[in-house]
Amino acid sequence: MLRPEEASLRILMVCLGNICRSPMADGLLRRKVMENKLSVYVDSAGTANYHVGEAPDKRMIQTGAKFNTPIHDLRARQFTVRDFDQFEVIYCMDASNYANICRLARNEADKAKVLFMANELYPSTNTAVPDPYYGSMHDFEEVYHLLDACTDKVIEKIKDGKFR
Ligand code: 4NP
Repeated sequence: MLRPEEASLRILMVCLGNICRSPMADGLLRRKVMENKLSVYVDSAGTANYHVGEAPDKRMIQTGAKFNTPIHDLRARQFTVRDFDQFEVIYCMDASNYANICRLARNEADKAKVLFMANELYPSTNTAVPDPYYGSMHDFEEVYHLLDACTDKVIEKIKDGKFR
């Protein structure tokens, strides 16, 4: 993947722990950016610090591997106010993430960068990508498929120049 300063667009995926939903969204978008040879840097972070430095949840790694989307190399980090300067687009997974990110926003321009991931599929609904942490493998697979569909839409938007 390109370094952030080499890319023409930088997209950050954010959830609570950065071990389930946002690393899967990150892995999916990275793979699709590579497949489509797009000049985009992709990263992910969590609003909480519980899992900083950890690999993604084993169940999410296993689900990604099943669908040809490796995420085992990713490591959790916490979202910081500097991310507003480093990324043009910040996707949150649910309303709680949205509130936590916006609490750190310094101005309206920061806030305007924060979008709901599932709005790409279900516009203007602020639908959550459900947290699978306390769920079953079936819940992890559902999250994968939802994020797969959402990131397809993100790729379309990038190709259509909707982020510039
Ligand atoms: P994520 O899921 O936000 O999708 O990474 C969670 C991971 C860990 C916890 C909660 C949600 N936790 O409470 O430790």
